[in-house]
Amino acid sequence: MTVRTIIAGNWKMHKTAADAAAFLDAFLPMVPTLPVSIEIVVAPPFTSIPTASARLRGARVQLGAQNMHWELAGAFTGEVSAPMLREFGVTHVILGHSERRALCDETDRTVNLKVRTALEQGLTPIVAVGETLDERRAGATGARVVAQIRAAFEGVAGDALRRVVLAYEPIWAIGTGENCEPAEADRVMGTIRKCLDGLGATPILYGGSMTARNVASYVALPNINGGLVGGASLDPESFAAIVAGAGA
Ligand code: PGA
Repeated sequence: MTVRTIIAGNWKMHKTAADAAAFLDAFLPMVPTLPVSIEIVVAPPFTSIPTASARLRGARVQLGAQNMHWELAGAFTGEVSAPMLREFGVTHVILGHSERRALCDETDRTVNLKVRTALEQGLTPIVAVGETLDERRAGATGARVVAQIRAAFEGVAGDALRRVVLAYEPIWAIGTGENCEPAEADRVMGTIRKCLDGLGATPILYGGSMTARNVASYVALPNINGGLVGGASLDPESFAAIVAGAGA
């Protein structure tokens, strides 16, 4: 079964609206030179989404958000809902990123609520899972990521799993320059693919210090269908080189 390949840039808390405009003004002219087989997603912070949305009109680059609330509206000070994202043409939303789990009280339960809402609202959730270094050292990597996946999709119908994207991001590899060996990432991602029925054609992205130098060695492997890229997605040339590398 052929699974599509996706390179998604997670800008985290980087780039004002002016910075986002400058990035896209440099990046978009490079897009026609990039392999058409690779789906490209950028996920700016909320405040840069309107600017990015305007720049991306007519471009073959999809717009993502980095989080959202599970309710559609209400008394949730500081939160942003799926309809607010959709209004700006957002198609993807990263859910369960380890930084939100560790620093912003995201739990398996809230990830599950958000995944259900994203699917109901026609957004593609990019659900991130991954183990800490201690869990890896304790031999608990497989159990950890399987538990996170099962919790995230509790109560989600099997056919909806075709509309999701998964990301395996070992926490110790994020932003450290210490990427997980591709063969080991592929092994864990194979475990993820098998942990629920219906994930056979679901794109699973690797995340954790992915660069233009190492992307090809990941996407060559059977269970790796692209990347969720943090640091190396912030520079337009570097991000374009990663997309190019994924299609080489
Ligand atoms: P990194 O981040 O590429 O900077 O390691 C990846 C992520 O957190 O999504």
